[in-house]
Amino acid sequence: PKKDQGLSRDLYQLMEEANLFYQSQLRQHSDKQKVLDYLDFRGLSSTVVEHFGIGFAPDGWDGLLSRYRQNQSAQDKLLTAGMLIANDNGKRYDRFRDRLMFPIRDRRGRVVGFGGRVLGDGTPKYLNSPETPIFHKGNELYGLYELKQRHRDPQQVLIVEGYMDVVALAQFDVDYAVASLGTATTAEQFQLLVRSAKEVICCYDGDKAGKKAAWRALETALPLLKPGDVVRFMFLPQGEDPDTMVRQVGKEGFEKLMLDALDLPAFLFETLTSQYGTDKSALAKEAMALIERVQDTVLQNLLLENLAHKIGMNSADDLKKKLGFAVKQQQPMNKKGLQGRGTPLRLAIA
Ligand code: CTP
Ligand code: MN
Ligand code: MN
Ligand code: MN
Ligand code: MN
Repeated sequence: PKKDQGLSRDLYQLMEEANLFYQSQLRQHSDKQKVLDYLDFRGLSSTVVEHFGIGFAPDGWDGLLSRYRQNQSAQDKLLTAGMLIANDNGKRYDRFRDRLMFPIRDRRGRVVGFGGRVLGDGTPKYLNSPETPIFHKGNELYGLYELKQRHRDPQQVLIVEGYMDVVALAQFDVDYAVASLGTATTAEQFQLLVRSAKEVICCYDGDKAGKKAAWRALETALPLLKPGDVVRFMFLPQGEDPDTMVRQVGKEGFEKLMLDALDLPAFLFETLTSQYGTDKSALAKEAMALIERVQDTVLQNLLLENLAHKIGMNSADDLKKKLGFAVKQQQPMNKKGLQGRGTPLRLAIA
């Protein structure tokens, strides 16, 4: 453990050095004009660029590496930190090249990873740091540190898909958004958010993938919710994401859209209704499979009441009798306080 601590400390140190290097390249590299043009094209102000510490990884194989030519041990650690890659011959080179760099900070403000965007249309559009001893994607949220700097005890938090969404929203003073890191929002991330704000609003892109992500988020959130936890779902017009949306309608317009966000039961039942229409028994079956995963019995009963009324029964008790559903006693939580029960539902969302 002593040795691990020493290693981690060195990794944090090197990540911060890399961060400062990328930021300096945005100010002084001979290619900087094309990056400034791209920032301009994306409508990002220098204030927000500085606030999030956005930088530039120059083109070429050794922009970062060349700074550690004489330092084998630092190179080894940069490899461990995911900043360098070794080819089959053991030759090392920069992972991030010719990209706009978004530093990802942990809750203590330490840089633990990067997301790098191509300056245009190349692929992959985003390149992210791999998992490393100090970076676990499923536990981090982009923008959470920056949010906490501004709001010690935030009323609401928005979960969005992308780096650009977080940054653009902040630029328009919607400065309470975070993004999961190129993957579905995990149970750990939800737990963290539900604990840090009174209300969590999911706001994924206005496209098919975004709708799927919202449903997946609902499935992830269900087992860990307690009464009083508020998770809501906001849907953007087709083709928009929070970045494009806030640029069109501004803070006021965006916050107006937030008011229309559905609460979790509404989203659940609206989705099932649009899926099953008048087939109430299919709807009930699917709904029960979801409601069964709720760990909290108060919340579970609330959803059962909702379902009962939805399908024209008088009460949750009637429903339980009819379906032979035994509401379980509160289960002891596992180590992480999370319960990974149930198989994922294959619910096609149109
Ligand atoms: N993502 C990723 N790798 C990709 C594409 C996407 O990791 N090749 C992640 C990124 O975190 C990205 C998020 O998924 O921010 C959402 O993807 P998308 O909506 O395609 O990108 P935007 O964030 O809208 O990016 P931009 O506005 O810069 O095009
Ligand atoms: Mn604010
Ligand atoms: Mn998308
Ligand atoms: Mn976008
Ligand atoms: Mn998007």
